Amino acid sequence: FSGPITVEQTVASTQELAKRAVSQTNPPQLAAFFADEQTAGYGRLGRSFYSPAQTGLYFSLILPNPTNDLTKVGLLTTSVAVSVLRVLQATFPAQPFGLKWVNDLYLNQRKVGGIITEASLELESTSAAAFIVGIGLNLTTADFPAPLSSLAGGIAPGTTVDRNRLAATLIAAISQDYQAYPTTAWLPFYRTHSLILGKPVTVRVAGQNISGCAETIDENGALVVALPSGERRHLMSGEVTRVVM
Ligand code: BTN
Repeated sequence: FSGPITVEQTVASTQELAKRAVSQTNPPQLAAFFADEQTAGYGRLGRSFYSPAQTGLYFSLILPNPTNDLTKVGLLTTSVAVSVLRVLQATFPAQPFGLKWVNDLYLNQRKVGGIITEASLELESTSAAAFIVGIGLNLTTADFPAPLSSLAGGIAPGTTVDRNRLAATLIAAISQDYQAYPTTAWLPFYRTHSLILGKPVTVRVAGQNISGCAETIDENGALVVALPSGERRHLMSGEVTRVVM
């Protein structure tokens, strides 16, 4: 990893730190921001991300966009998920990790991590100068407040995890894999580890529910849902609200 690494004790959100930094650097530079604890960590769709001290890994990366194109952001999000998943599999080989589209990391039916991708837009344009990718992993977190207690889990509660080593491995893998962006070589791996493909799902998109069979993830990282009518919808964003995993 060739950029600067900032490590803080407690912050509102590393995502906010990275966004502030990117607004002050032109052109944007590769950089990483870690915190031991976040008081206002957030995820997709405005949700909060529980980030207690010492038991997780919470960080944000500034990834300058080599294409200046926003249309492939779905590929970026899925490729980061694959990088993270590969590192987790190598670090915790006994754990059967899976992915719930777009970017929730699951273990034994519980969400153990999440990834959020935001774009830093060029002023008065629709092209993205950089992506701000935020990653949160519940490593040894054992207790979650309601209503998370039945939904979230830790990757290795009750053990000791070398967080520094894992952090270094993750940012090296993500930045290395990112050099291939926007190719799609890793999509088969994403599909194999998807927990929803081949299953009936309901996806909430822009206030509307779309129900059908989750058929595949297409070459843009979009979820393809086959509707009962036979029509196929390619969804670039949204949330899977119902699936039997
Ligand atoms: C999600 O579950 O929708 C994504 C969660 C992303 C959480 C990480 S933790 C580090 C970074 N800072 C934040 O505020 N959010 C991301």
